Amino acid sequence: MAPHNRADSAPLPSVRWTGGIDGRLILLDQTRLPLEETLIECRDVDALVEAIRALRVRGAPAIGIAAAYGICLAAAALPDSDDRLQWRSALADARAQLAASRPTAVNLFWALDRMTRVVEECITDSCVSQSDLRQRLLDEAHAIREEDRRMCHAIGRFGAELLPPSAGVLTHCNAGGLATAEYGTALGVIFTAHDQGKSIHVYVDETRPLLQGARLTTWELAQHGVPHTLICDSMAAQVMREGRVQAVITGADRIAANGDAANKIGTYGLALLAEAHHIPFYVAAPSSTFDLQLPDGDAIPIEQRSADEITCGLGRRTAPRGVEVYNPAFDVTPARLIAGLVTERGVIAPVSPDAIRKVLARPQ
Ligand code: MRU
Repeated sequence: MAPHNRADSAPLPSVRWTGGIDGRLILLDQTRLPLEETLIECRDVDALVEAIRALRVRGAPAIGIAAAYGICLAAAALPDSDDRLQWRSALADARAQLAASRPTAVNLFWALDRMTRVVEECITDSCVSQSDLRQRLLDEAHAIREEDRRMCHAIGRFGAELLPPSAGVLTHCNAGGLATAEYGTALGVIFTAHDQGKSIHVYVDETRPLLQGARLTTWELAQHGVPHTLICDSMAAQVMREGRVQAVITGADRIAANGDAANKIGTYGLALLAEAHHIPFYVAAPSSTFDLQLPDGDAIPIEQRSADEITCGLGRRTAPRGVEVYNPAFDVTPARLIAGLVTERGVIAPVSPDAIRKVLARPQ
């Protein structure tokens, strides 16, 4: 992976492909934000897997888009040969490697399934050459990215209707343009409401342990000119009690068939606080984040991350060596605490399995 330092000041997409079928994947390294805007180049699947695990690229939709391009990197690396079984086996290996990078965000598996379908169509059609295969995979990855971009803007439009003309809105983690193709889900709602002239003030949870709120959400809100205030996660209850918050909105990594939603650790606690203060709690996510195979949130796999993120997360050790640590990266908010699920096909409210199926079945 070759680092590039950014020279210009135009907004940078989190995930971008450059060139044609032999191109490269360019990521904005989110671990370096907000201090440095550094682009990294992924030339192979190993480099991309490292980038996903290290959260250089992060956020459910962005991980899915990056993984789709990962299959394009693997296709570009296929040895020149007409052996279709060899194509299938090499691309299946790449898929398995990418699928093992992070377990919770279903968008990763959704995007890999789409790429696998294209592989299978190409392999079973004897008229498809190796370069056709590469082109079709690249077209599919571009389509996944473009669809996500459009879904985020639609989510923004539906969600903005839920916010009053003047509101304090609390958000957690980062569900903005960095976590998606562009614009974001929860932040897309906030950006749209702000652009419509609503007076929105955002309270940003810093989001321990990796500070996606403090580092990334504040950076995006500042770029968009949305007024905001950074708080420690532990301050949310007091901020609500003081009457500063009229809505809470977050993204999601996987939503089960009954509406239980996995998102960054701390989201469940916020939903409970919102209920206690009679504040609506919304989750904004595209249809690619729903996993209708899972009946409820108990079946959502929760990623466990390294103890170092808690004991040495701020660049210096903050706990005794050898202390026992528990570091689940996500939690599950039960559907009963969610006032509405904002999707690109409309708002699901009240949340129920039937309402989810009905709204997701709407044409886009
Ligand atoms: O560990 P992260 O930073 O990838 O976690 C991201 C989140 O929890 C986001 O809220 C979620 O992926 C939605 S992004 C539109």
